[in-house]
Amino acid sequence: MIHTLEAPVLMVNQLSAAYGQSTILRGTTLAVKKGAVTTVMGRNGVGKTTLLKTIMGLLPVQEGSIIFNNENVTTLPPHKKAKLGIAYVPQGREIIPKLTVYENLQLGLQAHPDPKAKVPEEEIFSLFPILKDFRKRAGGNLSGGQQQQLSIARALVSRPTLLLLDEPTEGIQPSIAQEIGSILQQLVQETALSVLLVEQKIDFANQVTDHYYFMERGKMVMDGTAEELKHSALEKHISV
Ligand SMILES: Nc1ncnc2c1ncn2[C@@H]1O[C@H](COP(=O)(O)OP(=O)(O)OP(=O)(O)O)[C@@H](O)[C@H]1O
Ligand SMILES: [Mg+2]
Repeated sequence: MIHTLEAPVLMVNQLSAAYGQSTILRGTTLAVKKGAVTTVMGRNGVGKTTLLKTIMGLLPVQEGSIIFNNENVTTLPPHKKAKLGIAYVPQGREIIPKLTVYENLQLGLQAHPDPKAKVPEEEIFSLFPILKDFRKRAGGNLSGGQQQQLSIARALVSRPTLLLLDEPTEGIQPSIAQEIGSILQQLVQETALSVLLVEQKIDFANQVTDHYYFMERGKMVMDGTAEELKHSALEKHISV
């Protein structure tokens, strides 16, 4: 359920960012609604990952602003943003292969505002039962889909209110992708989590999205509700 009258949880205004001399974000603007999934689509290399990295504070903002829960967080470093409730699941998952599943989950606690917090096992294992079965296994021995689940679970351990999720279905089986989609929907509905998803697979995006943006060369060129974009030019844009 989308509370349209509520202020967005995240507002990105006219954001610019670069790697050295190479400008990637060129005035990107978007809003992420509370308790909903907002999806950024766009072809390879347009700057989707760069956008999430810049929101998280891993890349400096050159121009523009980032407002999270009405607070200006534009220049905050990643660990401060994490403590405020923003969690980031990077593209390619980046779990630690030699640590066990449980140890990987514990790493997520670094972002928790309470230093004595423990992994919320009941909640995490009911969302991701496979991680309970495999809790003592090395993360590197899990399948790609299981590693993706671990990466999302690790981000949830700090109880974020905003999840930045970069291409969670890349290189994983459709059945597991669908499972991840259901888990996301459940989280959004039951815990009012807000999600900024980057996704290129339109089937998965359609399963979970409330509002779409379409990015081209560092800025948004189109946006709308799931329904509005279903029959719009989006598919054409993506498949060309
Ligand atoms: N660390 C980096 N240093 C320099 N240039 C980079 C770096 N990372 C990405 N780029 C460049 O920035 C541009 C945007 O990359 P980005 O990873 O944000 O794209 P993307 O939309 O996430 O692509 P994909 O769909 O392939 O994940 C690309 O031209 C890429 O080559
Ligand atoms: Mg990317």
